[in-house]
Amino acid sequence: MHNWRAGNAARWRKTNVFSVDMGGSFLPRAGACLRRGGRRVWMVREALSTGRHVRRCARGRWRRGFWGLDGSFLHGNVIDDRQPLAHGCGFLQGRYRSNSTPMAMYSFLDDYSEGAHPDILRALTDSNWVQQTSYGTDSHTEDAANKIKAHLGEGFAGAIHFVASGTMANIVSIASCLRPHEAVIAVASGHIVLREAGAIEATGHKLIVVPAVDGKLTTATVEAALASNAHFPHMAKPRLIYLSNATETGTIYTLAELRDLSALAKRRGLILFLDGARLGAALASPKNDASLADIASLVDLFWIGGTKLGALLGEAIVVCNPALSEDFAFHVKQRGAMLAKGRLLGIQFQQLFGANHLFSSLAQHANAMAAKLAAGIVSAGHSLAADTETNQVFPILPNAVIAALQSHFAFYVWAKADDEHSVIRLVTSWATEEHQVDSFLSHLAAA
Ligand SMILES: Cc1ncc(COP(=O)(O)O)c(C=O)c1O
Repeated sequence: MHNWRAGNAARWRKTNVFSVDMGGSFLPRAGACLRRGGRRVWMVREALSTGRHVRRCARGRWRRGFWGLDGSFLHGNVIDDRQPLAHGCGFLQGRYRSNSTPMAMYSFLDDYSEGAHPDILRALTDSNWVQQTSYGTDSHTEDAANKIKAHLGEGFAGAIHFVASGTMANIVSIASCLRPHEAVIAVASGHIVLREAGAIEATGHKLIVVPAVDGKLTTATVEAALASNAHFPHMAKPRLIYLSNATETGTIYTLAELRDLSALAKRRGLILFLDGARLGAALASPKNDASLADIASLVDLFWIGGTKLGALLGEAIVVCNPALSEDFAFHVKQRGAMLAKGRLLGIQFQQLFGANHLFSSLAQHANAMAAKLAAGIVSAGHSLAADTETNQVFPILPNAVIAALQSHFAFYVWAKADDEHSVIRLVTSWATEEHQVDSFLSHLAAA
């Protein structure tokens, strides 16, 4: 591959770093770093309503307007109506904080409120000018797949495919395995059941829904679903078991539970599929006793979430059963999930499974923040609707307390508990700052 970066870096900086619109829209970049007078100056820009401006934070001053490539201010105005910055400016906990969040309050809504881990952004930038082949045939994607395979055990004989989103991973994985009359067994709270707008049903497959036990499927509930869906050929044929690990309530499957479900699937001729949107958090849970290699040996296919674990976007589908992997790429392509710039996904997973072990260290951080939140909430006298095993916390709080907290923090009110109490959902992430957890707990104490 020809390396364009060396020859063109200077031109690139001049033409692209802050090419802020001349009438059209521009692609927002999470941040950029210029060197000025030997010092690093971090600059952040965001699309405003017109898409014409950048904001810049340097030496604590914020301005809105146009910026020269050498970092000089061309024209615009100082922003003096700016609210106090939500979480500081500069480097916190060794990471750059942009302050460019458009959210009025600190968010515990989900684990993708921030952009991407700086190592990932850097890797994307560093590889920008290197030409690569397309559709996932590039060297980054190959290396990322090999890095993941190194965790899957000697016996792994399947394939890895990268797609951009979780819903896409579920659609491609599930639809690729099933014939038209075949159905999926899932818990009633499952992501594909409640939160993917009927995407699996839209591929023509019935969802057979069973009650969750601690958020999970059990062999008993699967057996019951098989028994009550056996009037063939009048009923859709149960063929695939859908699990997510972690579950929708943040609980995880133990190795024994996975083994039991796998044995049942083999016995009854079913495909076992695991949605791993939060697999990093599940594997990093103190309660976890399964490894990626265990999972690869027990399920037919699963995916490893990157989007919720510091990637800009991307999930890695691991097809373990060689019988399913043969034509898998055709399914990826037909569903529009094969990116021409597949490199973007490969580069990110190289980092997640690279030397800094982001896949586990970021998940450990997210889980530790959730554990701290949960412990603080319980010691303040409140109870939890589900055990906190990963990076989601489900406290049951008086509605008046929830209202008070809502003026400081963003989070989902998940369910009604009784007339005076509701369950809220707090999600921590690779980027959650501990002082925000402390702040939440102080506001809870004061509410
Ligand atoms: C368990 C699970 N599966 C799948 C998805 C879908 O991911 P996306 O929103 O990227 O399509 C999510 C997202 O919240 C999820 O939590």
